[in-house]
Amino acid sequence: MRTTRVLPLSDAAIREAAAVLRAGGLVAFPTETVYGLGARADRSEAARGIFAAKGRPPGNPLIVHVPDVEAARALAASFPDVAVALAAAFWPGPLTLVVERRAGAVADEVTAGGPTVGVRVPAHPAAIALLRAAGVPVAAPSANRSTTISPTTAEHVRKTLGGAIDVILDAGPTGFGIESTIVDVSRSPVRLLRHGAIPLAAIARSGDVVDATLAAVAVTDRAAAPGMHAKHYAPRARALLVPPGEVRAKVAALAAGGARAGAIERAPATAPGLVVELAPDPEAYARDLYAALHRLDDAGCDVIVIAEVPDEAPWAAVRDRLRRATSA
Ligand code: TXA
Ligand code: MG
Repeated sequence: MRTTRVLPLSDAAIREAAAVLRAGGLVAFPTETVYGLGARADRSEAARGIFAAKGRPPGNPLIVHVPDVEAARALAASFPDVAVALAAAFWPGPLTLVVERRAGAVADEVTAGGPTVGVRVPAHPAAIALLRAAGVPVAAPSANRSTTISPTTAEHVRKTLGGAIDVILDAGPTGFGIESTIVDVSRSPVRLLRHGAIPLAAIARSGDVVDATLAAVAVTDRAAAPGMHAKHYAPRARALLVPPGEVRAKVAALAAGGARAGAIERAPATAPGLVVELAPDPEAYARDLYAALHRLDDAGCDVIVIAEVPDEAPWAAVRDRLRRATSA
């Protein structure tokens, strides 16, 4: 057990959190996507602490967070032109670039022993301030127990990792609410490994991108995205996806069978009882999705009925998270 201190954002809190990081401790901090669970990326023992606290399998590599593109380049054996273009377009911001790793720059645990490393420059001012104050590269997965819902508030973090980590830096809810987009630029053509806060269409403006998240690509390429398990982002409750027109009847049938059923719908909601209404547009929907899942879990739902969202490009990241959240 560790004593977990929740520190509201302030200059003193940043200094304290940075000192804990430098000393090899575990610090949850806000990014513009979700809260991350940080530890020094250049120390094996510190990085192992992340895997232990999350219950994360050691084969799933971590994203390394740095305050600027120069610090990112210092971790890479090569930083190709397409990486330069994507970094210029989207950093600081919710894009992770997978690059060839520079020998000795980060601990082997961080890359799960692989030849590449995922790096990103986050846009949240508290994250940047923390990274600058720490002065070391910081490995940070989402600050949740492995396979469960990602945290978009400090309270979400405390709920599952309280007692397992040293500090939670609390700067309120995160902005995007969904994780960074991951692009592998270590080989050609460039590959999208995870849909995320930046849409694929925006990435494709910097050059050709193969969507490696498509089933047809993924089966031939399983090693490319080692952490992309089908079940992920999952609430404790059983979650079901149904067409929007069937939510009301599904909830009623479950309730009649004695289940405590909740629902998540795009406005206007139709289900009775425990229903969370999310915005009709993909950005606002993404921002509030994880909080909705947390809320219905906390309300003791056995089942969460989720209305399907449009099968359109701007919804790709949300559709991906919903598919994984509802995967048995
Ligand atoms: O928005 C985000 O990216 C958040 C915040 C905290 O930065 N972080 C995050 O980390 O979502 P995590 O660990 O929950 O998801 C990182 C994903 C994993 O699926 C992992 O397999 C993949 O990134 N990944 C990390 N390094 C990789 C590498 N070298 N090659 C391929 N995939 C990698
Ligand atoms: Mg995660």
